[in-house]
Amino acid sequence: MPTSRIVLLAGDGIGPEIAREARLVLEVLVPDAQLDEQLIGAAAIRATGEPLPADSLDACRGATAVLKGPVGDPEFDAADVRPEQGLLALRAALDTYANLRPAVQGGVDVLIVRELVGGLYFGARGTREDGTVFDTCEYHPRQVERIVRRGFELARGRRGHLTSVDKANVLETSRLWRRIVDRMAPSYPDVTVEHMLVDNAAMQLATTPQQFDVLVTENMFGDILSDLAAAVTGGLGLAPSASLSDGGPGLFEPVHGSAHDIAGRGAANPTAMLRSTALLLEHGLGLRDRAAALTRAIDGALATVRTPDLGGTATTSDLGAAVREQLAVDGAVAVS
Ligand code: IPM
Ligand code: MG
Repeated sequence: MPTSRIVLLAGDGIGPEIAREARLVLEVLVPDAQLDEQLIGAAAIRATGEPLPADSLDACRGATAVLKGPVGDPEFDAADVRPEQGLLALRAALDTYANLRPAVQGGVDVLIVRELVGGLYFGARGTREDGTVFDTCEYHPRQVERIVRRGFELARGRRGHLTSVDKANVLETSRLWRRIVDRMAPSYPDVTVEHMLVDNAAMQLATTPQQFDVLVTENMFGDILSDLAAAVTGGLGLAPSASLSDGGPGLFEPVHGSAHDIAGRGAANPTAMLRSTALLLEHGLGLRDRAAALTRAIDGALATVRTPDLGGTATTSDLGAAVREQLAVDGAVAVS
């Protein structure tokens, strides 16, 4: 089997601290993999003037999988060249349209399937002569079909319930979305489907999240609902995501942002990044057993080692070390 090549994009704010823990875990779990660190976001703008330099993009294109920390920096909020543009360009270039955001805790086990390369994030935008500024939500039927298909397939492999979230009482793109879901539903007789308006979905997620299995939705709705789902299942420090295409390398990234308020102090929770690493092992490298071992190790470590966001006093590296210790105890890997 050829050696896997994993590109590690540490990103901004707390990115380098949590990326370090992910790297240490990868060195233990996939010692043969080649790890290639590249720049993205504010770090890349400072070094090269661009949020996604050609070297980074080329490395990602040629990778088996990409592990990315958060990007964003308040310093560039009002600038023309912003860190987030690098992230959006990377998602588009890899065509990672299917963003899987699991939120699991207690009786809650929700999987948000967010469309990631269309909608408001990528539609026509600009400023009219009179000063009106606009962003446009655009979807081609093919873009909707492929993400809805993912939603059905994923629901079929889980508890067989799909909630399609839209705003069909207002938006044309949502009415298209709903038609496509209804058209595909008969091909999945084993999946029960419901439509839910996004405002109602937010309320239901906040109050009775255990009712959901798989939610499938457009880019912006998915961005907002996935933060909410993370909040009701233990917080943003715990929430990972996998962004998948139809063949190229997947992009694995925490749901949370760069948290500049706590950056550089060792106070960041590396769990979301480590869980994203588990998703990379499973979906990116096809190593289910090692992914499961890492998930067990993270859960085991969290039972006693807690970072400040979880009410504890442990540092980022304390938790990372506890995870590696659990991996060794588990026998999943040789003691490091
Ligand atoms: C996310 C983030 C990004 C997004 C930002 C940083 C552009 O919030 O991955 O959820 O909106 O997709
Ligand atoms: Mg977000």
